[in-house]
Amino acid sequence: MTIRIETERLILRPIDPGDADAHIEMMGDADVASFLTANKTPDSRADRWRQFASYLGHWQMRGFGWFSALDKESGEWLGRVGPWMPEGWPGLECGWSIKREHWGKGYAPEAAIASIKWTFEKFPELSRIISVIDPDNQNSQAVARKIGEENSGEIYDYWGFKLEVWAAERNSWLERFA
Ligand SMILES: CC(C)(COP(=O)(O)OP(=O)(O)OC[C@H]1O[C@@H](n2cnc3c(N)ncnc32)[C@H](O)[C@@H]1OP(=O)(O)O)[C@@H](O)C(=O)NCCC(=O)NCCS
Repeated sequence: MTIRIETERLILRPIDPGDADAHIEMMGDADVASFLTANKTPDSRADRWRQFASYLGHWQMRGFGWFSALDKESGEWLGRVGPWMPEGWPGLECGWSIKREHWGKGYAPEAAIASIKWTFEKFPELSRIISVIDPDNQNSQAVARKIGEENSGEIYDYWGFKLEVWAAERNSWLERFA
């Protein structure tokens, strides 16, 4: 089954091997990597390749995973957004990362709202969606607020960081965004 989600400005579709270079390049940017890696700086290119391969594997193992967000008009690869839940994760997350030159255009919230709708439709029993966010990551918290998530007060320990769990409850979220 082909998955393709259209928003006002974006096309979302599952990441595929052809996105590897764009993703590896995005994760090589120091600003993008600062809240996404264990030492807060970009991983080596070889590690970024392995990371991307694991994201493809997540789709195979879970039947869902990151979407590539593409500019509807130009086809440019803008970033990755969508559902994600590796082993041990504190819940089904909607995550987001956008190429540095495209920050501030509202792409992450636009893609996240469409992704969450898709996720709630796919999992009718899912009672809430979460986002795991570093307390210093102001940009990501801004996205979480825009898409109707609140800081749940729960903390998730990862790589020695105390990350905050933001969350939205299914019914109230669907009333607001569906
Ligand atoms: C978090 C992120 C995905 C936001 O994406 P986005 O498409 O820029 O989202 P928005 O346009 O809604 O902007 C979100 C906030 O970023 C900040 N921002 C906006 N433009 C910016 C710019 N040019 N440079 C830096 N920050 C900017 C603003 O605080 C904005 O909030 P506001 O609209 O309330 O002022 C993006 O910053 C990113 O990829 N960061 C690195 C990866 C990451 O940390 N991901 C989240 C892990 S939990």
